Amino acid sequence: MRPQSNTTTTTNINTFSDPSFSSSIHRRITTLSNHLLNPHMASDNQSISVSPTASSHSVFAHLLPAPEDPILGVTVAYNKDPSPVKLNLGVGAYRTEEGKPLVLNVVRRVEQQLVNEASRNKEYLPIVGVADFNKLSARLIFGADSPAIQENRVTTVQCLSGTGSLRVGGEFLARHYHERTIYIPQPTWGNHPKIFTLAGLSVKSYRYYAPATRGLDFEGLLEDLGSAPSGSIVLLHACAHNPTGVDPTPEQWETIRQLLRSKALLPFFDSAYQGFASGSLDIDAQAVRLFVADGGELLLAQSYAKNMGLYGERVGALSIVSKSADVASRVESQVKLVVRPMYSNPPIHGASIVAAILRDSDLYNEWTIELKAMADRIITMRQQLFDALQSRGTPGDWSHIIKQIGMFTFTGLNAEQVSFLTKEYHIYLTSDGRISMAGLSSRTVPHLADAIHAAVTTV
Ligand SMILES: Cc1ncc(COP(=O)(O)O)c(C=O)c1O
Repeated sequence: MRPQSNTTTTTNINTFSDPSFSSSIHRRITTLSNHLLNPHMASDNQSISVSPTASSHSVFAHLLPAPEDPILGVTVAYNKDPSPVKLNLGVGAYRTEEGKPLVLNVVRRVEQQLVNEASRNKEYLPIVGVADFNKLSARLIFGADSPAIQENRVTTVQCLSGTGSLRVGGEFLARHYHERTIYIPQPTWGNHPKIFTLAGLSVKSYRYYAPATRGLDFEGLLEDLGSAPSGSIVLLHACAHNPTGVDPTPEQWETIRQLLRSKALLPFFDSAYQGFASGSLDIDAQAVRLFVADGGELLLAQSYAKNMGLYGERVGALSIVSKSADVASRVESQVKLVVRPMYSNPPIHGASIVAAILRDSDLYNEWTIELKAMADRIITMRQQLFDALQSRGTPGDWSHIIKQIGMFTFTGLNAEQVSFLTKEYHIYLTSDGRISMAGLSSRTVPHLADAIHAAVTTV
């Protein structure tokens, strides 16, 4: 006789009359419950037979090893190199003059305060994150006096750093926007095409970089965006274009704005380096503010990875500027439906740090000083590398090193020259010739200059 509990369980299972509850699932659950509740019925044909998962053969045996991420893979290779002179210029993270990761003093101080606040708890955040963080983040990028903010036309949602903000924005557009094509610059940050494709958009590119001048291909950009179908989405790097370090001038931005608006193209700004390019948060927000000032709509992904050094805390925000407060609030309700099944709600710690810094004028000022120091060190590295190549008489025009802006220099070295740098000089960088200026120091500039000189004269 079956124990009472077994009968009860079986009865409960049998009450699933929903036709969508497939019979195979039903069969498996019944078998499992019989097995667990009455293991003596092993001879019964309801017993569980040995499943393939219990054999030595893996159900994942068919998988091929995936290639390393082209950017993060540089660090993997660097870590394996035992050379004492090795240099990692692949990864977009700031390093001190001593080559060490930096936690800003203001961040450390705020973290201490947060830890000491006994009233803080670890409850779930709302789906949209820390309310104050969202408000202050919108003010930081759009400006405190932005009409869009004053008219409540901005929806801001805390997301998982810049990447997560781009992904949530992409999925929102794929669900609710009438055009599914996004134009991204060629070249761009390697994750962009993958993020938007997986979000459900179709990715096309527009010309951006002119190898001959190592500058902006402005004509190509205007031509490609000029022939994009009306309504298409256009990804724009707000400042410090990655990987080229080439930004449009303010006049060129104005022409781009006029073109986008006249063709009803929807701008999606990626702001990963505000304050990091020029050292000024306002200057680096100028392009974005130009587009917001005309009253038109746009999306913006914001990251605090670089400008507050909060890389691993994954702090960022997605802002969507709409035409009216009413639309903005409906937008927010729909963005919540994107976020909820993706990761439910964002993490609390990093956004609390950012909100505390943006809220308090002393902390804010301290942050801007530390931010400017990081930007200045990068600018100094540009000058030192340029001078070092000049003094070696390295063939070619290297002025792009001081003209380009932000964390990266697009050196113009080809893939063979890059692999020469790695093999002969233990210098690691992505195969497109991009180097992170933040990974350089006065001590390592001569080593890099020697390597570049050798590469362009011998490869
Ligand atoms: C252009 C650009 N966008 C977005 C990101 C996203 O970074 P995170 O997700 O760490 O904020 C990066 C990081 O390197 C970037 O360079």
